[in-house]
Amino acid sequence: MLLSNALKFSHELMERALQPGDRALDATAGNGKDTRHLANLVGPQGQVVAIDIQEEAVKKTAKLLEDEGHSERVELINGDHRNLDELTRGPFRVIVFNLGYLPGSDHEISTNPDSTITAIRKALPMLAPGGIITIVAYHGHTEGKGELAALEKFLPTLNQEEVIVLQYSFINQANNPPILFALEAPGDDHYPDR
Ligand SMILES: C[S@@+](CC[C@H](N)C(=O)[O-])C[C@H]1O[C@@H](n2cnc3c(N)ncnc32)[C@H](O)[C@@H]1O
Repeated sequence: MLLSNALKFSHELMERALQPGDRALDATAGNGKDTRHLANLVGPQGQVVAIDIQEEAVKKTAKLLEDEGHSERVELINGDHRNLDELTRGPFRVIVFNLGYLPGSDHEISTNPDSTITAIRKALPMLAPGGIITIVAYHGHTEGKGELAALEKFLPTLNQEEVIVLQYSFINQANNPPILFALEAPGDDHYPDR
């Protein structure tokens, strides 16, 4: 199929944005698959910071990275991305939000509209010039519907001089396929004096 699903397209954008030696942030580490993708792309000289509110997720991500031999290039943080500005420092070339709950785990512990918007607000100033924030939103469950509504309200208010916002969704598919939002900061080439 030519059209990638939301998750695959988010991975393709990470591939386009990242070069060896870059820094990337995964704000929802979960089972570690996005973190692993980022770690592969930044290479041994790069760095990935991966955060999850659940210790179980941090352990799962740690195990996945260990199996791949990528532990050294990833800093794992057990914390709430609502406090992103206290947990880490930018700049990051890519920042990833893969919303919802940990697959195969407690559905009660999910991202929510309030914490997600707070975290995105804090992530924006951490974005490197030319960098990108990817947000995959699952809206098949009640919390997810509220989260999507909050994103659709908040993201269009962002100043296009500071970040451009893409919404990528399939509009005739059953079962509420996830939606990708991608926020790109202007690159260095837009600001030759920087
Ligand atoms: C859909 S999963 C992420 C999947 C993951 N990126 C992967 O590739 O396996 C969402 C994750 O967000 C985490 N999460 C929920 N609320 C959070 C918060 N406020 N701060 C940090 N992580 C949170 C959950 O614990 C869960 O592991």
